[in-house]
Amino acid sequence: MCGIVGYLGGSSAAAQPVLFDLLKRLEYRGYDSAGIAVMNGSIQVLKTKGSVNNLMSETPILRGCCGIGHTRWATHGKPSSKNAHPHCCDTNKIAVVHNGIIENYIEIRDKLIDLGHKFRSETDTEVLPHLIEENYNNDLESSVRQALSMVRGSYALAAISSNDPDKIVVARKDSPLVLGLGETGFFIASDVSGILKYTKDVIFLNDRELAVISHNGIEITTLDGKKVDKKIETIKWNAESAEKSGYPHFMLKEIFEQPDVIRETFSGRMSAEGVDLEVVMPDARRIIITACGTSYHAGLFGRYVIERFARIPVNVEIASEFRYINPIVNSSDLVIGITQSGETADTLAAVREVNLEKSQKFGIVNVPGSSITRESQCLFTRAGPEIGVAATKSFTSQLAVLLLLAVQLGRARKEMSTADANDFVYDLKQMSGNIQRVLNEADNIKKCALVFADADQFLFMGRGANYPIALEGALKLKEISYIKAEGFPAGELKHGPLALIYDGVPVVAIATEGVTYEKMLGNIKEIKARGATVIGIANESDTKIEKYVDRVLRIPDSNPWISPVLSSVVLQLFAYYVADYKGCEIDKPRNLAKSVTVE
Ligand code: G6P
Repeated sequence: MCGIVGYLGGSSAAAQPVLFDLLKRLEYRGYDSAGIAVMNGSIQVLKTKGSVNNLMSETPILRGCCGIGHTRWATHGKPSSKNAHPHCCDTNKIAVVHNGIIENYIEIRDKLIDLGHKFRSETDTEVLPHLIEENYNNDLESSVRQALSMVRGSYALAAISSNDPDKIVVARKDSPLVLGLGETGFFIASDVSGILKYTKDVIFLNDRELAVISHNGIEITTLDGKKVDKKIETIKWNAESAEKSGYPHFMLKEIFEQPDVIRETFSGRMSAEGVDLEVVMPDARRIIITACGTSYHAGLFGRYVIERFARIPVNVEIASEFRYINPIVNSSDLVIGITQSGETADTLAAVREVNLEKSQKFGIVNVPGSSITRESQCLFTRAGPEIGVAATKSFTSQLAVLLLLAVQLGRARKEMSTADANDFVYDLKQMSGNIQRVLNEADNIKKCALVFADADQFLFMGRGANYPIALEGALKLKEISYIKAEGFPAGELKHGPLALIYDGVPVVAIATEGVTYEKMLGNIKEIKARGATVIGIANESDTKIEKYVDRVLRIPDSNPWISPVLSSVVLQLFAYYVADYKGCEIDKPRNLAKSVTVE
């Protein structure tokens, strides 16, 4: 949610192309407007409504080796060039980019207006350069520190001043920020995938830390001025994994990466005993999973498999609701936050809430060094950088981790025998190859998707562990194609959603082998009787299904607890091809952002 970047190169370096490149890499965080400020004696600012490409197309060449940039997901003030960052003070001697929300900005702005400051935008951020200017006392660092002592809210910010050239001051509180140390200079970004092309050596800033980046190096202190020694961490992700590598969209590339991702997720985690995860906590009397969006759907799947294999009761809570229901959590509970980015504000807040209750907790996360990893023990999904806003490989890797966790908990609590665990692990080892077989059917899935691509509404239904997959299938379709799509537990249709069925409405029914298979066939009959056109997802060996549905998309035969992962891949491709046919901006769907760092 908003990406901020910065670059300080050697004195002959050119900041502008680097800033553009960094911004393009962070565009999935927001693409309502973009802007840069480069220092060359004075501060030169360029900004525009829309994407970074818009900015690049109308931009003159700015000279200077030091600059900051921003790609915006609008919160305060509509997307416009006026509201685009960087924002400057009255004299244009200070420029700031910011990700987060300044909660007391109205109060501060009113005071600053009384003092004679003139505001040009509707944003909360604009108070920052004015406040820094108002508190300017010959060096940028102490002025930023002073200004931040007066604001409430969340921020990752970068500031430059022509009074203090070739220096960038950054600070963070509740919004992510990473500094890269490369051969060609220092890099600043909201997350690591932005700077991976330039360096893998990074420093993650913690909350309430401030860094001064200059030709002398990086100095880090707490907001109240205490020196902090930070470790330089080396990111293991490879730089190519954040490139499109010939695919038309990141989403398609990420879908096709899933066989490798799953192999990586499982690597070193399966032992002779079954499963060997780094974090488990088997003594919990109850598990509470909290997450948002796609990660929430993974959590729902987690409930089915953990309850089945480990017999621990699991509650799954939408993070933005969990915080405010005054949750009853006690010390025998285990709270698991699932988040691809590790930065989703609601999920972080929900997991933090748990601190107060002293229960056990851990995170299931993809991005190394992200906020949740700094606050909790974590199991990594190891999906690599995911750039497409619609989550794909991160979702299946979350499902894979949850399956591992269920087996390990089941073994630790003696609910699962060694033989059953070993059989299941054998089946898990087939998952990657089976995903590849689904991908080999991409052309068939595309043909089917194109038949229905002009529909204006879709329903998705499944039962048991396929129900969360139906929800996720609907979410994928609506977020990238803008078609109305809802997922339902198939047995629930007759209690309301059946009223949505009319002649020809497409319904995707996940009817794979398992305890609810026969019931699904019954539900399919019910909707067919009312005119629906049914696309069934079924196992290869299913010989009955064709009599029930209009079209079938097949997945390889596999363990019924693993087949939901394969069905997810079918639904990802289905959504992708529909959206592609409609000419949608697949990697950057309207109004959405990948990492939602505001509540
Ligand atoms: C945003 C993204 C979704 C994602 C959700 C949760 O809404 O667009 O794709 O599922 O945030 O993100 P997280 O990083 O916490 O998994």
